[in-house]
Amino acid sequence: MKISLTLNGRPVQADVAPRTNLADFIREQMLLTGTHVGCEHGVCGACTVEIDGEIARSCITYAVSCDGARVRTIEGFDDDALMARLRTAFTEEHALQCGYCTPGMLVAARDLVRRKSALSRAEIRTEMSGNLCRCTGYMGIVSAIERVMNDGDVQREARQSTWLGPAPGPQVSSASAEASPAAVLQRPAARPAAPLQPRPQRAPARRVAVTVGEVEEKDGIVNLAQSFVLAHPRAEVWRLLSDPQAAAACMPGASLDGPPVDGKVKGRMEVKLGPVAASFAGEGTVTQYPQEFRQVIEGQGGDKKSGSRVRGRVDYRLTETASPDGTPATRVDVLIGYGLTGMLAQIGRSGIARDLARHMGEVFAQNIDAALTDPASVPAGQGGISGISLAFALISERVRALLRRVVGR
Ligand code: FES
Ligand code: FES
Repeated sequence: MKISLTLNGRPVQADVAPRTNLADFIREQMLLTGTHVGCEHGVCGACTVEIDGEIARSCITYAVSCDGARVRTIEGFDDDALMARLRTAFTEEHALQCGYCTPGMLVAARDLVRRKSALSRAEIRTEMSGNLCRCTGYMGIVSAIERVMNDGDVQREARQSTWLGPAPGPQVSSASAEASPAAVLQRPAARPAAPLQPRPQRAPARRVAVTVGEVEEKDGIVNLAQSFVLAHPRAEVWRLLSDPQAAAACMPGASLDGPPVDGKVKGRMEVKLGPVAASFAGEGTVTQYPQEFRQVIEGQGGDKKSGSRVRGRVDYRLTETASPDGTPATRVDVLIGYGLTGMLAQIGRSGIARDLARHMGEVFAQNIDAALTDPASVPAGQGGISGISLAFALISERVRALLRRVVGR
């Protein structure tokens, strides 16, 4: 396929095979070998580049999906003053040893310094957790970023409203100017760090236990069942779940474009699994069986950047039951089936699928519970399925399982 893009400020036209990832294209066809390749599945961050001003993993981005885009590799930051400061700080703080991770670290660190300021060392670690280094132990990396973030010269330049680097430059739109170096640096140094705060929850979410059955894979489709009990009468739960927009608002990362039209809905699902981010846009059908308090949603969609596609089916049924104190409650039984193709197919592996389903099911159940208890509550996880919280949830679950096995022995 023929593609045209802007690479480090220069227009480039090339013939690429559809399966070629951006990292291979940059390194092997464009001979820009500053972009490194480590894990090749979106985990280590060595291949980080900028695409249209946002950092991205070039190893899980198809080159053809960058047709028309502005791509910037580490070589494209040679004249960038902010990057020069980071390079100096990395050298002086001994933030590299073999240097393999360094190009990706620098691109990610520059992005962080442009977007956020006044972060603690712990917050810098968390922000940079999508970039792995095998040598340095991270102390120097954190020190270098902290030093640039608190750099007096950087603050002075901000007061003079000068641009620190060529991109995004004065020609950017007002929306993206918000994230420009000058805009970032004009913020008061003492501005409290905004980033890691969850949105306020008006109703503290009650934990709702979710049972997940065995995961089966057949013909590329992962099937699993899960269930949970909500301490609300069935009619109330049905009223909420039978409204697709209200139900989507309770699902972490999901949103609908509008109400169903002839039983069809359009929407999107944001997934951020550690460093892997995807935005699936798609459409589906909603079929309701009110007599059975049952609803079936079927749909399919794709993520343009990674070229991944998903098709799936969610079938849930409500049964009347009672809480331990005898008040009316509702048991929700959910059958989920989905198939993933493309670079994100790893999410379909049974271990991850099970953990992911439990985590999402818990957030979904808690959001429904909170919405029924206090309709003004803000659903958790609407910024997308959080990589950090999910990673912690999955890791702690694995650690708990390991401990159970060890103690059991
Ligand atoms: S090589 Fe791309 S994230 Fe590791
Ligand atoms: S310096 Fe060697 S991997 Fe980071």
